[in-house]
Amino acid sequence: MSDTLTRSEAGGGTPPASGPWPIELDDVTVRYPNGVVALKNVSLSIAAGEMVAVVGLSGSGKSTMIRTINGLVQPTGGRVTVGPHAVSELRGRALREARGDIGMIFQAFNLADRASVFHNALVGRFAHMPTWRTMLGLASAEDREMVMRSLDSVGMLEKVWHRAGALSGGQKQRVAIARALSQEPAVMLADEPVASLDPPTAHAVMADLEDINASRGLTVLVNLHLMDLARQYTTRMIGLRAGEVVFDGPAATATDADFEAIYGRPVQARDRLGE
Ligand SMILES: Nc1ncnc2c1ncn2[C@@H]1O[C@H](COP(=O)(O)OP(=O)(O)O)[C@@H](O)[C@H]1O
Ligand SMILES: [Mg+2]
Repeated sequence: MSDTLTRSEAGGGTPPASGPWPIELDDVTVRYPNGVVALKNVSLSIAAGEMVAVVGLSGSGKSTMIRTINGLVQPTGGRVTVGPHAVSELRGRALREARGDIGMIFQAFNLADRASVFHNALVGRFAHMPTWRTMLGLASAEDREMVMRSLDSVGMLEKVWHRAGALSGGQKQRVAIARALSQEPAVMLADEPVASLDPPTAHAVMADLEDINASRGLTVLVNLHLMDLARQYTTRMIGLRAGEVVFDGPAATATDADFEAIYGRPVQARDRLGE
């Protein structure tokens, strides 16, 4: 193709971001069309390279916060900034390009079960490929190498030609992490990534996220239902209750009183995940 076209003019390909990004929420309110206020005047600064857990009951606003950070939900008040992008003000192609640098991991993995592990992880590269190449199914040698390296870093290289649907839950989540890593993101957002996994597998996936943060220096924000995991794997914990930040500090220093502020009741044995 012609060198005179920029990657963007050629159909959507933009180079990945060069380093980890900070995340800023400035007085963010989200009111859904049905009147539910899912976030109320939330202000947060997450530094580049920080690993943060967001904990809270179901319905406290954790998913809304993540969707607001990657621009899937527009705040009705306030401003969200991710690295150089004023995400809450972006639309269309500018928003898609910003999202190309934001890795996402979901509770339900969101893989194409009938496709191979390789093809699932390759989807992450689409964020930086011109549309015409994506449509032709063309991956460059560089794209393929990035996918293999991502799969290797989560221990999934030996399953590369397996069907994603045939994998265990923990393996699927690792492929989803590899897909996000193939994107070469500047921040990684994970929405209850271990909620469907048994305790040992949940620990293994949390350890993968911890490693991504430590070895790549990526900013990681992970929603968790259980405070236990936040304590073990992150230094900073943000507690949400009914859309408001009720705790923000080192996870290890959270007391039983803090637990009660977040969950609205005293801590019990069932709040522990186990080993
Ligand atoms: N698309 C939506 N439309 C209307 N209300 C929503 C929508 N998504 C979430 N909510 C409501 O917003 C609140 C926060 O939800 P959510 O962000 O999913 O919390 P969490 O992830 O902590 O369970 C809940 O009351 C939920 O019912
Ligand atoms: Mg949720």
